[in-house]
Amino acid sequence: MILTGTTGLAGVIGWPVAHSLSPRLHNFWLEALGIDGAYIPLAVKPENLSLALWALPALGFKGANITVPHKEQALALVEKSDSFAKRIGAVNTIRVDEKGRLIGSNTDAYGFIKNLKSEARHWRPSRPVLVLGAGGAARAVCVALLSVGVREIRICNRTHSRAEGMAEEIGGPLVALHWGDREDAAEGVGLLVNTTKLGMTGAPKLRMPLTKLPPSAIVNDIVYTPLMTPLLASAGERGNRIIDGLGMLLHQAQPSFTAWYGKKPKVTQALRNHVLGG
Ligand code: ATR
Repeated sequence: MILTGTTGLAGVIGWPVAHSLSPRLHNFWLEALGIDGAYIPLAVKPENLSLALWALPALGFKGANITVPHKEQALALVEKSDSFAKRIGAVNTIRVDEKGRLIGSNTDAYGFIKNLKSEARHWRPSRPVLVLGAGGAARAVCVALLSVGVREIRICNRTHSRAEGMAEEIGGPLVALHWGDREDAAEGVGLLVNTTKLGMTGAPKLRMPLTKLPPSAIVNDIVYTPLMTPLLASAGERGNRIIDGLGMLLHQAQPSFTAWYGKKPKVTQALRNHVLGG
């Protein structure tokens, strides 16, 4: 790839950022669609975030993704943001508009629902959902679920006050339950989502007894390293439909790409293979 003065630049801003799969993903689409563009990892320390964001228009960037730990701070720095970003309290995509303004959005909720619907077409929002965790990822998942009309979301988090705070802030049919009650909380749900880091390579295992989980329930882990987490493995063994965490990452990237480059890329098996290729 030859970069020129007219190459359309975008990137991902994080700290650290080396682990991010987004460059593999967006550069695959740029190449597949024959677009003169480049997507670059940008390691930016938290104290430099405002300087980095304000430099994007000056450097001619079309925009950027924002990742850990900057998503919340970015919301306060952009000039405008969409309703998902406001409700989630975080920005994961910035587009530089024609006037050089920073327009923030959050595509995580879209990515979660789009992935869920494409992996489990039979899923309906009528049954309760159990969400494990109450961090940034949980907020995006809850806002996504509410946007499609889920009537009851049970949140189990190790720190109960955080679950209560999230339920209060987001509003709607969110119920904060104790971490110790997660086994019982699975009774009658149509969907179980792990949004904690438990089960990720290097993190402790998630201990989630599935005895009360209906056999018809879908289990979605947003952890994608490994793809087959211990939670998904045990859910799959007892016959539950399982959805891994990579799909949400791929689907959240699509509206960001479209915002910068004006074309709608496809989430395909070839993309999955490329992103996993290491
Ligand atoms: P993110 O923004 O990616 O969601 P986060 O805000 O750090 O990350 O949230 C991490 C989630 O994993 C939280 O729900 C956290 O629980 P606490 O609110 O009690 O910290 C959960 N988590 C992390 N380590 C955990 C552990 N050992 N046991 C249970 N939950 C854990």
